[in-house]
Amino acid sequence: MSRTRYYVTTPIYYVNDKPHIGHAYTTVLADVMARYHRLFGVPTFFLTGTDEHGQKVQQAAQKAGVDPQTHVDRTVVRFQHLWQQLGITNDAFIRTTDAGHKRVVQEILQDLYDRDEIYRAEYDGWYCVTCERFYMEKDLLNGTCPEAGCGRKVEPIRETNYFFRMSRYQEWLVDYIQTHPSFIQPDFRRNETLGFLRKPLQDLCISRPKSRLNWGVELPFDSQFVCYVWFDALVNYISAIGYRSDPALFERWWPASHHLIGKDILTTHTVYWPTMLKAMRLPMPETVFAHGWWLSGQDKMSKSLGNVVNPFDYIERFGVDAFRYFLTAEMSLGQDASFTEVAFMRRYQADLANDLGNLLSRVVKLIGSHCGGRVPSPGTMGEDEVRIRDVTLAAAKDMVDAVERMRVDQGVTGLTNAIREANRYLERRQPWVLARDGRQAELETVLYAAAECLRIVSGMLFPVMPTKMGELRAVLGVGTEAPSFDRLREWGGLVPGTPVSAAPILFPRQESKPTPVPAATPVEVEGVMSIEYTDFQKVELRTAKIVQAERVEGADKLLRLQVEIGGEARQIVAGIAKFYAPETLIGRTIVVVANLKPAKIRGVESNGMLLAASKDDVLRLVTVDGEMVSGATVK
Ligand code: ME8
Ligand code: MG
Repeated sequence: MSRTRYYVTTPIYYVNDKPHIGHAYTTVLADVMARYHRLFGVPTFFLTGTDEHGQKVQQAAQKAGVDPQTHVDRTVVRFQHLWQQLGITNDAFIRTTDAGHKRVVQEILQDLYDRDEIYRAEYDGWYCVTCERFYMEKDLLNGTCPEAGCGRKVEPIRETNYFFRMSRYQEWLVDYIQTHPSFIQPDFRRNETLGFLRKPLQDLCISRPKSRLNWGVELPFDSQFVCYVWFDALVNYISAIGYRSDPALFERWWPASHHLIGKDILTTHTVYWPTMLKAMRLPMPETVFAHGWWLSGQDKMSKSLGNVVNPFDYIERFGVDAFRYFLTAEMSLGQDASFTEVAFMRRYQADLANDLGNLLSRVVKLIGSHCGGRVPSPGTMGEDEVRIRDVTLAAAKDMVDAVERMRVDQGVTGLTNAIREANRYLERRQPWVLARDGRQAELETVLYAAAECLRIVSGMLFPVMPTKMGELRAVLGVGTEAPSFDRLREWGGLVPGTPVSAAPILFPRQESKPTPVPAATPVEVEGVMSIEYTDFQKVELRTAKIVQAERVEGADKLLRLQVEIGGEARQIVAGIAKFYAPETLIGRTIVVVANLKPAKIRGVESNGMLLAASKDDVLRLVTVDGEMVSGATVK
């Protein structure tokens, strides 16, 4: 990490709205970024807050029959409460109604006015009486009011306003963006802004006459006007860190490292804001990063469609950490992502309950029964141990790069893969067999390696799931507090002899809502189902242990199983999804046809076929009666 300090911001959200999944996302992302930087030892400042002026607030307050300040004081707590619940570690919370912020906005306005960056002009336009809004000719929709659902006749009107000389910075801005490729990220967003800047840039109207709107910051040089909300709101990024009030603090944190925003407010952040800063003679933020949109399934979330995801529902059902994990892991940063209950459940069960939860409970159970409940002493590392060590350390290192590249999602995937590897490692080394055969030294080496993987991965996932990873680390005796990064870069941090406590169930299995089982139609797999009787003797039937199971995307009957056949890993695709929840299959010993030619089922490779009994709409797997290793012949 090359940074010497890190200042990250979220948009300040309109205080009027109910916080939803989109607001939660940007804030969780900023929190995760802030926590990673702190973990890496980089001094960090994390800012979020609320945008509290403007017409909508004024109207909502009127409707509620209270003054606007009372209204925003009431509604701001919804955001503050949610951030508290989500474990958000912002260093400051700015409200644009804070007296300090308003004073800074006024000072900036006065300064820009004195230096002729802001001027007064009278111009002709159109007014919609119903919407009480003023429009320029170009804003009209077929000559009528452009407000959604209005479309009424508009009247000619002459209005006076104040304008910021934004147009004079157009050339400078284009050049700045082109010569600073990291200023707007991802790259395609930069092109979007450059596209916008191909048209002539207008001066920006930064005032609203009080006759139309009075809930705003009053212009210091004309009390008949208030400041346009965006000109007020963007200033939060500097007023909150001491601009014009605490020079040392401001010097310490400005320019911002990352302004995190959604793609909806790209223009305000990459055109208005830099030109404002330029006029103020301040340095530019390093990076404005616009992430994609959370969709409800495939659709835009909107109040009218009634498909807006309420974060509180998910937090209640799955817990804060799982919620943070899903948001962080599921969105490929920059792209749109789809929020569905199914996707949430899948990640919860597969990544958290199965992979992570299982590894912990297996390791702790075995340490409890075979190592006296204390961290065992590792012996010489074999090939398998070296591999699990290397995979784990590589995933930890990749997470650092991923944070720098703004691809935390990829970093998280690498870490969950390491956990998966550790589960496979246990399957291969079979510590339960080592225990049975009294091979204590080997057993301790294996359990130590698996526990080390957990220590490092849990430390590296701590910024995403602080509570659960803290609980996990407490079990291993390394404390619930934020880990020390240096210890996560080296193998061998667990101290043999340290007591290991009983593992809590970190991610309890969730009941999936029962769905009626439709009449089963056996999945016909070409070249797989039909074997001649005479061929039967050639069929090699073996026991197989299911290590992993998951649904096949786009094929609701299929499960993809990873099985272990006597030390060999295989993937088998089977049409049993209607009868078995994937997570209930893990650890079972089944019977498979082991020498079947590989086949592609719905594009997914299958190496073998499992045996199951099926009649009407019932299907049951053929399993072995009692304990049996995998790879045993079935005759
Ligand atoms: O625009 N998916 O506030 P706002 C992802 N006050 N992110 C989403 C989202 C979605 N479906 N919906 C909203 C404002 N967001 C101004 C900002 S900043 C100086 C002033 C997130 O309450 C995303 O970060 O409308 C988006 O940019 C922001 O909420 C807009 O919040
Ligand atoms: Mg918005």
